[in-house]
Amino acid sequence: MFLDTANTEYIEKALESGIFQGVTTNPTLLLKEGENRERKIEELFSKGVPFLFVQAVGSTFNELYEDAYRIYSLAPEGKKIGVKISLNQVGVGVISKLKKEDPDHVILGTAIYSADQAILGALAQCDYLAPYVNRMSTHGIDPYEAINKTRAFIDSRKLNAQIMGASFKNSQQVVYALTSGAHTVTIPYDIYLQMIDKEIALSAIDVFNQHGEELRGM
Ligand code: E4P
Repeated sequence: MFLDTANTEYIEKALESGIFQGVTTNPTLLLKEGENRERKIEELFSKGVPFLFVQAVGSTFNELYEDAYRIYSLAPEGKKIGVKISLNQVGVGVISKLKKEDPDHVILGTAIYSADQAILGALAQCDYLAPYVNRMSTHGIDPYEAINKTRAFIDSRKLNAQIMGASFKNSQQVVYALTSGAHTVTIPYDIYLQMIDKEIALSAIDVFNQHGEELRGM
């Protein structure tokens, strides 16, 4: 599971859970933090992020390709960095070239709104594919059917791509994505809290703690 934020405080708290393999960001999330991209990446690695995804930006092949290399160069020794590339005509070409140049380049094909788009990302050798679950629903596209079909395609062709469900607005969407074929998900901090701190469970835990205290005094 990955955490979808660039907020250092949230990342530090969530990493304590031990269940997050890494962190995904995008330009919007980074902009929210009001910090220069390179400085923020350095800070996140220094706070213990083991694996960080950063989105390459550019509207031409060269801009996108060069930005991808800029991002790869920012990983300190022992840390992993993955580049997110939007799956459009320019993006798919850049992905194929980066993979040909070095199969160890980690690439997440992003901004996925349909199974056909995801299939092209898988064929271009993306390591991860990020279908935008909530945004798809908002546009009347069934994200779970798209995830399911993409997974069937990946498995039948024995491709390496892993589906990383993204764009979640509630914890139910996370469960549906994972049970529809997503290998993993990237979730915002508030969704992580929704999943782990259920009011009803918290009251039960309070009662156990209270009774535990009473037992200690007996
Ligand atoms: C992650 O890869 C995406 O950038 C992110 O999940 C998009 O989420 P949003 O729809 O909340 O912006």
